[in-house]
Amino acid sequence: MRIILYLGKGGVGKTTVSASSATAIARRGQRVLIMSTDVAHSLADALSTELSSTPVEVEKNLFAMEVNVLAEIRENWTELYSYFSSILMHDGANEVVAEELAIMPGMEEMISLRYIWKAAKSGDYDVVVVDAAPTGETMRLLGMPESYGWYADKIGGWHSKAIGFAAPLLNKFMPKKNIFKLMPEVNSHMKELHAMLQDKSITTFRVVLNPENMVIKEALRVQTYLNLFGYKLDAAVVNKILPSSSTDSYLQSLIDIQSKYLKVIENCFYPVPIFRVKQSTAEIINTERLYQLSQEMFGERNPAEILYVDDKTQMLEKVDGKYVLSLYLPNVEVKKLNVNIKGDELLVDINNFRKSIILPNVLVGRKTEGADFSEGNLNITFAN
Ligand SMILES: Nc1ncnc2c1ncn2[C@@H]1O[C@H](COP(=O)(O)OP(=O)(O)OP(=O)(O)O)[C@@H](O)[C@H]1O
Ligand SMILES: [Mg+2]
Repeated sequence: MRIILYLGKGGVGKTTVSASSATAIARRGQRVLIMSTDVAHSLADALSTELSSTPVEVEKNLFAMEVNVLAEIRENWTELYSYFSSILMHDGANEVVAEELAIMPGMEEMISLRYIWKAAKSGDYDVVVVDAAPTGETMRLLGMPESYGWYADKIGGWHSKAIGFAAPLLNKFMPKKNIFKLMPEVNSHMKELHAMLQDKSITTFRVVLNPENMVIKEALRVQTYLNLFGYKLDAAVVNKILPSSSTDSYLQSLIDIQSKYLKVIENCFYPVPIFRVKQSTAEIINTERLYQLSQEMFGERNPAEILYVDDKTQMLEKVDGKYVLSLYLPNVEVKKLNVNIKGDELLVDINNFRKSIILPNVLVGRKTEGADFSEGNLNITFAN
């Protein structure tokens, strides 16, 4: 069983790349489920078919589903949902607003994760491909050692805030039951899923990006946080690459900008392998096109495989009370090294290439104290 998650900024091509990978895997003979938790229903468009939260076989071995998280909350989490919306209504919110607000932060992600758990546990598929929502919440949820613990805390915080607002009324109104008991089995599901996501032989994380400044930063942020939480990237997919040259001067200037950023991507993600996809002139709206795209992207490689084993690309440790960030840069002979911080970015100039890393929050605002290079690792020490 394998789980493959595609992450990245909105609009970069996560749905397209996920569906394309899933099609390629299915055509190689493995049973694959592609799952989207996006309310925008773009997976159905890419596959030119109607989808719902029950998987349908789009073609041989290729199953697809689209989870409507909001409908799911209304249908299956009624008790919790109406509990929160009634608290809000007692606080003066009108019914519509109360219902909107009753979907708590993190709830959508938690439900999406639970669907991944269900599909992975079902035994029905060799591979589950997840077209993840472009949100920081997903990352945060993925990152906590005890995902459910984090979620329960969030509910707890929200809960006490709600009580604070409406204490006099609530004393009379509030049920004395423990709300966490409303989700009895979720706790163990989340723990199981977390173990699966941490198991590198099961789960693979990939980032999708375009050769554009802000998109690259977001992709680097994804990499930083995955690393911080112990998940590893096995590939970066650069999508929407323009042709290498054009006689049209307008297009040529866009191509020039892209080639600058393609170089940045190569430096920044090294040694994680990069797969490339051109900007297509034809719409990508069926499995035939998706399959062609997968051929362009992965060539002979099977996207179901683990494409790169990364144990130490980027590590953050505390050594003698100080944070040390280690970057694995194999086959780099360091002649000239310069390390600078600009906002939340760490700029590392090695010889004549520049690598930039988005710093995790814990390092933002700290100065670097020193950097040394040994056995292929660049170790940067931060001041307290
Ligand atoms: N290589 C490509 N060539 C041409 N069009 C593309 C390519 N990749 C994606 N697209 C188109 O770009 C649009 C956005 O792609 P897609 O929906 O896959 O992105 P996404 O990252 O899933 O977006 P969202 O964050 O909104 O879910 C779609 O219309 C898709 O068909
Ligand atoms: Mg999408």
